[in-house]
Amino acid sequence: MASSAASASAAAFLFLFTVISLLMTQSHAQSTCATQKFTNNKRYDRCSDLPQLGSYLHWFLDTTKETVSIVFIAPPATPDGWISWAINPTGDGMAGSQSLIAYKASNGSVLVNTYNISSYGSIVQGKLSFDVTDMRGEYSDGLMRIFATVELPEKGQTTINQVWQVGSSVTSGGSPARHAFEAANLGSKGSLNLLSGEIAGGGNGNSKINKRNIHGILNAVSWGILFPVGVIIARYLRTFPSAGSAWFYLHGFCQVSAYAIGVAGWGTGLKLGSESKGVKYSGHRNIGIALFCLATLQVCALFLRPKVEHKLRLYWNIYHHGTGYAVVVLGILNVFKGLHILSPAIKWRSAYLIIISVLGVIALILEVVTWIIVLRRKSVKTTKPYDKGDAKQQP
Ligand code: HEM
Ligand SMILES: *[C@@H]1O[C@H](CO)[C@@H](O)[C@H](O)[C@H]1NC(C)=O
Ligand SMILES: *[C@@H]1O[C@H](CO)[C@@H](O)[C@H](O)[C@H]1NC(C)=O
Repeated sequence: MASSAASASAAAFLFLFTVISLLMTQSHAQSTCATQKFTNNKRYDRCSDLPQLGSYLHWFLDTTKETVSIVFIAPPATPDGWISWAINPTGDGMAGSQSLIAYKASNGSVLVNTYNISSYGSIVQGKLSFDVTDMRGEYSDGLMRIFATVELPEKGQTTINQVWQVGSSVTSGGSPARHAFEAANLGSKGSLNLLSGEIAGGGNGNSKINKRNIHGILNAVSWGILFPVGVIIARYLRTFPSAGSAWFYLHGFCQVSAYAIGVAGWGTGLKLGSESKGVKYSGHRNIGIALFCLATLQVCALFLRPKVEHKLRLYWNIYHHGTGYAVVVLGILNVFKGLHILSPAIKWRSAYLIIISVLGVIALILEVVTWIIVLRRKSVKTTKPYDKGDAKQQP
């Protein structure tokens, strides 16, 4: 019975590590725009998280009609501000842009108009150098959306230069006032390949998305998976005599590597936090700091461990187990908090939920199995009861 339970748990761990490595190789597929839904029933088969100004573009290229249908989503700089998306057929910046601008009219409805921006000083409402149809605007939850179908400036074209922007106010006459000149406002331009979805330019916004993903993967693997696996090993594997003292080394290896990966993840988190001004996720941040402190204590405590016979060992065990369970609970909680902030495609949240549920079920089964073993041992050798909490085979 013991050996079959041990091999079942070995198989389960193998399954988990396969899932983890799959997750790691596919992580680049993760983007926020994939989760955005629209009220119209049009089909947009591609989308991209644009590298600046927290904006997104969804599009559908109709190669027979030579048109591209788009949804541009961005938070206006203030609720009374404007958002704009443009194609620049002649250059790569604002000057020359053929732009769509949306803002909230005084009666509350969102207006979308076209503007010919021939230079930094000339923004004229009117026709563009290409046709635009089905223009519509929406505003909800702090995000404004521009819907439109745009004729491609050149026949057969698959790469365009896009320019986008957000501003804080609109004059009483209904023309957008100038935007800020922060790095994000000056970097919001670049080429877009309508077929492959590849975007170039736009500053370092993409590297920020990559950093967030790396941060998420490191922390989910460490605090969210390896630490709980290490605790399961320590709690259950030692009950099986065939495991010998192997559980101790496995447990140590698991927790020390989890700690190493976790510290790397923690570092990327601090870096991200210092880079995103204005946005504060204090709950996520504070739990992260608490986790780092607890786990550091835990690793230090390994080296200050009293001998098994020592009378202080009991207190050390209580402390070590308490801190260990606290790390597991806080770690899993913080992975979910992080997933909420990162708002990745729903499959990532489900993947983690599945992994953690499988671990939970394994723990539950092992809890029952080990209790049965311990109770049997007790009834066989009543003179020498097996103490479940004691680390018998620990070196
Ligand atoms: C509403 C009146 C607007 C004014 C007065 C204005 C003015 C300017 C000026 C003076 C610059 C150059 C800043 C510098 O190089 O230091 C600039 C840059 C920029 N503007 Fe605008 N802008 C306006 C609207 C827009 C709109 C609607 C868009 C979106 C299509 C836009 C997109 C950009 C972008 C991406 C840049 C940086 C890239 C470049 O230099 O071309 N602007 N703007
Ligand atoms: C709001 O005003 C704009 C013009 O400023 C007009 O085109 C639009 O139809 C109005 N919407 C409603 C709901 O009255
Ligand atoms: C946009 O403005 C420029 C400069 O005034 C002008 O030469 C160009 O023809 C205009 N484009 C359209 C489509 O009206």
